[in-house]
Amino acid sequence: MTDAFKIGPLNHVGVAVPDLQAAMETYRSLYGATDITTPFDMPKQGVKVCFVNLPNSQIELIEPLNEDSPIHDFIQKNPKGGQHHVCFEVDDIHQAVTEMNARGATVLGEPRIGAHGTLIIFVHPKDSNGVLIELMETPKAGH
Ligand code: CO
Repeated sequence: MTDAFKIGPLNHVGVAVPDLQAAMETYRSLYGATDITTPFDMPKQGVKVCFVNLPNSQIELIEPLNEDSPIHDFIQKNPKGGQHHVCFEVDDIHQAVTEMNARGATVLGEPRIGAHGTLIIFVHPKDSNGVLIELMETPKAGH
């Protein structure tokens, strides 16, 4: 364990939903959100995603694409949807994996391209008070 590694800014909170359009409408009509990105499919991850852009962060709305989606079971257990993960930025995803492993955490899968186009990993909820943690490399300017 080195002192060098630490998490950076909160990038987004992931919310799994059964119906993306309905969830977008909730953020628009109930909370007055005006900056919501166009949904796009991430077939490899089995999800459809959009972002509610806020002055200091984002809400990532995630709908399962099919029954094989990793989000599918979550929606089965939480039919109205629910808070799914919290994402922190890191400088270097490979350093993050090394440090997470060295600190005894369970990293889920290999680094892969996330919804922001940068490398991500997930850390098992058992390591963080029941919260699934996403670590993502800080997007370069313009993303
Ligand atoms: Co996320």
